[in-house]
Parts: sequence; C-alpha cells; structure tokens
Amino acid sequence: MSIPHLPPLPYGRQLISEEDVAAVAEALRADLLTTGPRSAQFERQMAEMTGAKHAIVVCNATAALHLAMRVAGVGPGDRTVTSPNTFTASANCAAFVGAIPDFSDIDPVSYNLDPVTLAAGWKPDTKAVVAVDYAGQPANLPEIARVARAHGAVVIEDACHAVGGAFSHEGREWKIGGHPWADLTTFSFHPVKTMTTGEGGMILTDNDEYAERARILRTHGIVRDARYFTGLGCDENPAFAERGPWYYEMIDLGWNYRITDFQCELGMAQLRHLPRFVARRREIVARYNEAFADVPWLKLPGLQPPARPEMTSWHLYTLQFDFTALGRTRTQVMDVLRTQWGIGTQVLYIPVHLQPWYRHTYGYGPGKCPVAETYYTRALSLPLYPAMTDADVERVVKGVLELS
Ligand SMILES: Cc1ncc(COP(=O)(O)O)c(C=O)c1O
Repeated sequence: MSIPHLPPLPYGRQLISEEDVAAVAEALRADLLTTGPRSAQFERQMAEMTGAKHAIVVCNATAALHLAMRVAGVGPGDRTVTSPNTFTASANCAAFVGAIPDFSDIDPVSYNLDPVTLAAGWKPDTKAVVAVDYAGQPANLPEIARVARAHGAVVIEDACHAVGGAFSHEGREWKIGGHPWADLTTFSFHPVKTMTTGEGGMILTDNDEYAERARILRTHGIVRDARYFTGLGCDENPAFAERGPWYYEMIDLGWNYRITDFQCELGMAQLRHLPRFVARRREIVARYNEAFADVPWLKLPGLQPPARPEMTSWHLYTLQFDFTALGRTRTQVMDVLRTQWGIGTQVLYIPVHLQPWYRHTYGYGPGKCPVAETYYTRALSLPLYPAMTDADVERVVKGVLELS
C-alpha cells in the first residue's frame, strides 16, 4: 500500500505559529539585531522558568558545551566522561579544550549514563562528567553528582533533549537547569528540539564566576568593564593611558558565540508555548506506549528514577526492535515506513566512541560500552513533535503495527 497524498512525517520538527513569526518580524525592525535587550530578556525568562541563577544564551549548544568546558577549567591533561549514546558534541567539547573525551556505558532501561558503571570505571584524571538526558529522560543526576563530586569533578548536564523537563528526588520536583546536582547545564534550541530559535543554545548555572566567564568568552574574551582592566603596558604614554568610551581589553581567548536578538524573540515566543509543547509530546508518548505495549518484537522506552512520566519533557520516542524476530532489517523497516506510510524515522545514536575519529585518536573500539553498542543495533526513533495531529500519530501506530 502506498499513500503519497499524505504529508511526510519527519522524526522531529519545529512548530512555529503566525504569532511567533509576527514577533520575529517586529524584532527585525529594532535598532539592535544582536546582543541587545531581547537576548537579556530571553536569558531572564529562561532563568525564571528553570530556577537557575544565571542563563547565558549562545549561538548553539555545541558552543554552550565548549564554554562549559572552558569555565569549568577543563583542559590538557584532564579527562571527561560522557555517555556514548549521544550526539558527538557532548564528547567533542572536551577535545576542543585539549582534554581526553572518554565514555562510560549506559543503563539498559534509561539509555543514560549508569552511575554504578561510572563509579567502577573512574579514572583519577577525570575532571568533568557530561551527563546527557537522552530523549528527554533526565540522567540520574543526584547519583552521578555523588560519584563525580567525591572525586572533585564537575558535573555538566547536557540537557539539550530535556528543555522544560523535571525530575523527582527527596520528595520534591527539581527543574532541569535549576537543581543542585549539575554545576552547569546546556540546552539546545535546534529546530528538532523541544523549543527553537533556529540555531541556539544556552548555559544555565548558579555559579557567579562560571556565568561571568562564559559571558566574556562568548564575545572574544573582550571586556568593557573597568573592573577587569590591567592596561596595555604603555601607561607612561598619556595617549595609551587614556581609557575613553572606545576602550576595551581582551583578557582571555574567546569566540564569537553570540546569538541574534530576533532569534531570542523567537525563543521567548516559543517559551510561551513550551508547557503545551511538552504536554503534547507526553500525550503522544503515552499513546505510542499503549499501542506498542504487547508487541513481542518491540521494547518500549522505560523510565528510571529520578525520572517520572508526568515530569519528563520527551524529545525522542525510541523503540528497540528485535529485527530478527520481525524478519526485516532496520533499513527495510525504515524504507517501508517511509515509502508506504510517509513516516520518517531516525537512528539515535551511533555510539560516539566507535566513530572513526574517536577510534583513531584515542584507540577506542567495540566492546568498550557493550550496552550502548547492543542498544544501537536495535534502536529506531519514531516521529515525535507537537505539530503531529491525532491522525498523524495513528498513522505511525498503524504503520509500525503492520510491519509484522
Ligand atoms: C545531546 C546533544 N548535545 C549537544 C547537541 C548540540 O546541539 P547544537 O546542534 O545546538 O549545537 C545536540 C544536538 O543535536 C544534542 O542532541
């Protein structure tokens, strides 16, 4: 059967309203297009939403992770540990600063870092743990922080998938970005994520010094605040000693990781929709879980404490398939779903330690993280985004159920 008249369903996409478009158009008429009042306003709103003391908005989450490494003081001679089940940026950020990106295996239920494995494989040069909230399910941050902090390591939560989520610990709800078990948290606002600014990212932290340094490094390491000035080394010459309105100093080696104000306007518009976006994603996940519960060749996504279904902000819906029992390869399944049903699917993720650059550079290879490797051979993510109608969801359900 072929249904070409139905619009294709990608595995993820943005939902932008006419109201959002109008807000961005208005922002384009402003005097300041970058690093103006809208960036600061978006930061304040995100800090308020999460409960974080500081929010620093940047051009993408890869930049946010890079800055997180720099402000946490990770550098040559240090090791970082992250999950192999992630986008490459969670590990690459360590290599950017000359540290060794290393990996610890995942838990077979949550597909997130397993704190027991992390503790058992701890190496003394580990300076930071990058805990990824895969698919939106929070990693076990309280346990991960207990292990990392016992060794003096920093915890960076890569919450690119988990914007708008929370978890439960010690009898209360903790917002992602605003709990005490991550020293720094990063968000992505890429279009497939929970809310978007086109490209965009954010660092959240309660640490004043981290926040200050991240802001400076976001703009080339340049400061205009006299508190930081040490001079140009020629103060005996009055013309050099004069520090007029033009004056700035570069006090560190930074980058241009700024984001535009019209993107931040989109971010604020999206933030107003976030509760509805998260609720719709949860609804779709519940429907998928119900529909696939009794299928013998499917394993549903499972939640591990401290994650809770009513607090999770799902980014992905990933099933594990028993392709052998089904009698089809993953490529065949993807082809049938796409060509016969217009359903897009995606494999997330290829274990990062098996990527050629990681194998060649660090000598990693198969067997390093067996749980993540087995998971990879079975994983397939179905469409999940708030613009999906009930009919779209039912099309996905039917397409998957009719595979057998
Ligand atoms: C877990 C994770 N970390 C980091 C990133 C990088 O985000 P960005 O595309 O905003 O740089 C992504 C993006 O896909 C991601 O999924």
